[in-house]
Amino acid sequence: MKKQLITVFVMAILFALPGKAQKPVYLDDTKSIEDRVKDALSRMTLEEKVKLCHAQSKFSTSGVPRLGIPELWMSDGPHGVREEILWNSWGVASWTNDSCTAFPALTCLAATWNPNMSAIYGKAIGEEARYRKKDVLLGPGVNMYRTPLNGRNFEYMGEDPFLASTMVVPYIQEVQKNGVSACVKHYALNNQEIWRGHINVELSDRALYEIYLPAFKAAVQKGGVWSIMGSYNKVRGQHACHSELLLQNILKGQWGFDGAVITDWGGAHDTREAALNGLDIEMGSFTNGLTSESVFTYDDYYLAKAYLKMLKEGKVPMSTIDDKASRVLRLIFRTSMNSKKPWGSFTSEEHYKVSRTVAEEGIVLLKNDPLSKKIPALLPLDGAKYHKILVVGENATRRLTEGGGSSVLKVKKEVSPLVGLLAKYGDKVVYTKGYESGRVMYENIDKIPASVVDSLRAEAIKQAMDADVVIYIGGLNKNHLQDCEAGDRDSYALPFGQNELINGLLKVNKKMVMVLISGNAVEMPWVKDVSSILQAWYLGSESGNAIANVLSGEVNPSGKLPFSFPVKLKDNAAHSFGEICYPGDSINEEYKEDILVGYRWHDTKKIPALFSFGHGLSYTNFSYGKAIISDKAMAEGDSLVVTILVKNTGKIAGKEVVQLYIGDEKCTLVRPLKELKGFKKIALQPGEETVVNFTITADDLKFYNDQASKWIAEAGKFKVYIGSSSTDIRSKIEFSLQ
Ligand code: GLC
Repeated sequence: MKKQLITVFVMAILFALPGKAQKPVYLDDTKSIEDRVKDALSRMTLEEKVKLCHAQSKFSTSGVPRLGIPELWMSDGPHGVREEILWNSWGVASWTNDSCTAFPALTCLAATWNPNMSAIYGKAIGEEARYRKKDVLLGPGVNMYRTPLNGRNFEYMGEDPFLASTMVVPYIQEVQKNGVSACVKHYALNNQEIWRGHINVELSDRALYEIYLPAFKAAVQKGGVWSIMGSYNKVRGQHACHSELLLQNILKGQWGFDGAVITDWGGAHDTREAALNGLDIEMGSFTNGLTSESVFTYDDYYLAKAYLKMLKEGKVPMSTIDDKASRVLRLIFRTSMNSKKPWGSFTSEEHYKVSRTVAEEGIVLLKNDPLSKKIPALLPLDGAKYHKILVVGENATRRLTEGGGSSVLKVKKEVSPLVGLLAKYGDKVVYTKGYESGRVMYENIDKIPASVVDSLRAEAIKQAMDADVVIYIGGLNKNHLQDCEAGDRDSYALPFGQNELINGLLKVNKKMVMVLISGNAVEMPWVKDVSSILQAWYLGSESGNAIANVLSGEVNPSGKLPFSFPVKLKDNAAHSFGEICYPGDSINEEYKEDILVGYRWHDTKKIPALFSFGHGLSYTNFSYGKAIISDKAMAEGDSLVVTILVKNTGKIAGKEVVQLYIGDEKCTLVRPLKELKGFKKIALQPGEETVVNFTITADDLKFYNDQASKWIAEAGKFKVYIGSSSTDIRSKIEFSLQ
């Protein structure tokens, strides 16, 4: 008996010893994240909670050292994991282990019109971010393409909310499977770079809800994104980073977002608004988000000492800090403190394959017609037919992963178009630069001496005289005032004297293939004089291999444009209502085109685009049967099925994006002629045919009635357009909503 008592006594002692104490809930990953958040919050001081809500360095926020809650580390960007930046400056840390895989720009991803591409892209970039020990990847960007001049369109997913909403979701889901938070940006209405830090955007609720918010809403409600980045600009008078409308009413109220709102770097401007309107993490304050440094310490941030003081004085409710700290803790438990997260991987062959596959699927064949009896459609380019293949253009050799702003990448590999073509066609390839754009600069553009411009041009034209075929590789680049953050293009035309060069080349050789590398539409005065035009994007590490594979026909192009190419700038909606509509008067800007953005404008105003939204050719052809609809009438709550037969009538395998648009024939409010409501990418062998089905529900028919402040489908007639682009409609069919 005595022995037993002693045993019990010893056990009791042992059990009481700290070493055996029950693990605190917040450290116990068998507990729910909500329980862990509550427990951690209950253990934290007010000072510790406030410290969670602002930066401690350029790209990190502090955790709670006393409780063993780790820091949060963030990194750009949407196309790859940016090289390490110094603790408290925009300078690079010159590490030797951070050269990443560059994936194609998101315009290219959107141009694949293939959500599976978003999934493999998100998985790969998420693995790279995880391997680099980053908890928040600052991307993807889904701001709508409103004007071809916006410097950052290359980072986004085009002009249509349905396309962007569909393509953004798998990217986010797959990134986050790595225990890395995606950070969808820039929320919202950051559709230009001019005056980005303060321009106040005014627009209707219809435009806001129908065009500019859907991709963010999909990211939150379908993608389950764990963080979102507020944009620099103002919306209806308040900075987006602490906008009551955007953050409290819509994002957290209507959409139920449970993640953390992070400012763009330098996007916070007011403690009271930041405290009350739902900002959770303040980054980069007092800087321009790119190059200029702050002179303040992190304690001087709006959500630092000043906020703590207001809390202590009861000027803002304690509930605000508990909401913020809870959201930041939730983000930490999902990422840095997620003990189940994988290890990631970096610059693997698998990642290069993903980069190349997305690039190949996103390249768009804009034109490929015979020019005359003597000049056939030049693509695919059969090397056996030629002795001298002249490659002209700076973009054949320029490193296009550099520049562009915060999406800049230090890469282990970037196969240039010239290297890709040399690998494909060997010594038949001769290269001449043709034009020069100077160094990668933020502040200004090198002025290239006229003598250099003339000699480069003369040499290219001389070389073209005896070339069997010319492959021109030009377009824009990542220089300031091109496809680059913090500035917009100042012209719709190709820069660096390219049009003069192109015209000079065409005078001596009509057999020219144009490969345009850009993230934006450009003016093409020579479009009738060339047989073949390829829209290649900033394609990343495997750029040259992807371009060579498509030019040679090893890969049959299947990309479709995610935005319209207007013939001239004033055909674009945002450029049709004077300065106040774009770029604004430097204080305010009014989106006067309202919901008629992109093809919605071209269709409704009957202004043909040079190349339409959804346009993209193939080396094979596809025939479409007649669309069939399951019922001519749809009752509220019903759904209809539209089917159509598509056949590959050519001699090689190919992929086609079958697009479904719906037009409301009669509505009390203005509506576009038609809007994208479905698309399917199908692969068909020569001669193969398949039936493509689309299901239509009342949601596809709704518009946002801003008088009633709700989505409404009005009874009446609707038209279904099925086609190979927004203007290449192959079949129409009507039905009515009861
Ligand atoms: C930049 C960009 C944003 C980027 C951030 C950090 O100004 O607007 O996209 O993620 O600052 O570099």
